[in-house]
This record gives sequence, structure tokens and C-alpha cells, in this order.
Amino acid sequence: MLKLLKVLAGWLFKRRPAITVRPWNMTDIRALITIEEEDGGPIEGKAFFNWILEEQVYGVVAVENGVVQGFAVAYPDSGYIYTIRVAKKSRRRKIGTRLLKHFLIALNVWQKQQLSIDVSNKNAGGRRFLERNGFAVVLITEYHDDDGNFQEAFLTLQRPPPTGFTWNDVMVVNGDETIEL
Ligand SMILES: CC(C)(COP(=O)(O)OP(=O)(O)OC[C@H]1O[C@@H](n2cnc3c(N)ncnc32)[C@H](O)[C@@H]1OP(=O)(O)O)[C@@H](O)C(=O)NCCC(=O)NCCS
Repeated sequence: MLKLLKVLAGWLFKRRPAITVRPWNMTDIRALITIEEEDGGPIEGKAFFNWILEEQVYGVVAVENGVVQGFAVAYPDSGYIYTIRVAKKSRRRKIGTRLLKHFLIALNVWQKQQLSIDVSNKNAGGRRFLERNGFAVVLITEYHDDDGNFQEAFLTLQRPPPTGFTWNDVMVVNGDETIEL
């Protein structure tokens, strides 16, 4: 019994390794590509590297014991989050929430009113994550194939949503391009 209590106490009071969120730098690139590729993401080494250099984006990484566990990229001029991603094995440990909080603090620095992000309607986990963090769907963009059949929709979420905004106010628009799935 005493042994069980000791194990329980050890588990409860074990110090969790601290997560640090900091601006990314070029030495992080390999880790970012690895995390992106886990999900079959679109980022490819050189193209990504060039994109970072060319775009006016602000990227941050979440680091634990010197290892990058997640990253997020936003455009400071609009508050639009281009991507947020956490390594598969490190999900559901509030690392994504920490990354979002970093941008919320940055909003004051950028003097922006809101953050926004797009997520596929197939990404139920991503949507739940965003809603848990105060985002709400404000726009739905639907994409159709050449025959006009519905293929996929992207949800635009905003934090905070416009004052007085309700689900009834969410607009549904047709994407102006067809996508191949
Ligand atoms: C979405 C993502 C960034 C969340 O990061 P994370 O560190 O796992 O998120 P957190 O631990 O801060 O999650 C907090 C809450 O979000 C919700 N959530 C996160 N992932 C979820 C999932 N797969 N399914 C359902 N809910 C989920 C839960 O409510 C969770 O709280 P809980 O664990 O107490 O239930 C991460 O799952 C990820 O990288 N997904 C793939 C990339 C992606 O979809 N990014 C863009 C969409 S936002």
C-alpha cells in the first residue's frame, strides 16, 4: 500500500519538462520539416526555407528539453495564422495552446484586433482545439469539382469573433477555384 502511495505521489509531483516558446531560427528548419512531413504536409525543405525568407511571416517553436515539439506561423500584418502544428507524439499536452497564447500576446505588439485561421471541415480535432481556445467559425468556403459536386469545405475561424456574432451569421461562399482531391 505504502509502495503504491509512493508511486502515485511520484507521478503526481513529477516535474514536467518545461515548454519554451520562442521565435524560430534557421537551425530549427529540419525539425519543422520533420513535424510537417509526419502529416504529409506541403512543406518541402528548400521551398519552405525560401518562403520564410521571402514572406513577412512570424514563426515560433515550442521547445522541450532542447527538442522542437511544435510550431506556428502567422502574418503580423493581418493576424492570420498560416499554420500551427504539434509533433504527433506530443499532442494533447497543451503545446498547441501555448503556441496560440504566444500569438495572443504578440497581437498587442502587432496592435491587431484578432487572430484568424483556416481549417478543413474534415479536421474535427483542429476545429475543437480552436474552439476550446476562443475561436469561432465566421466563414465557410466550399469547393466543388468541375461537375459542381461538393468536394471539401474550409472553415475560417476568428478570435474573438465579431461582437454579437452568432452561428446564423456565418456566411457560406463558393471557392472560386476547383480543387482536385
Ligand atoms: C491541432 C493541434 C495543433 C493541437 O495541438 P495540441 O498541442 O495537441 O493541443 P492542446 O493539447 O493544446 O489541445 C487542447 C484541446 O484541443 C482539443 N483537441 C486537440 N486535439 C484534438 C483532437 N485530435 N481531437 C479532438 N480534440 C482535440 C481538445 O479539446 C484538447 O483538450 P483536451 O486534451 O483537454 O481534450 C494538433 O493536434 C496538431 O498539430 N494537429 C495537426 C495539425 C493541424 O490540424 N493544424 C491546424 C488546425 S488548427
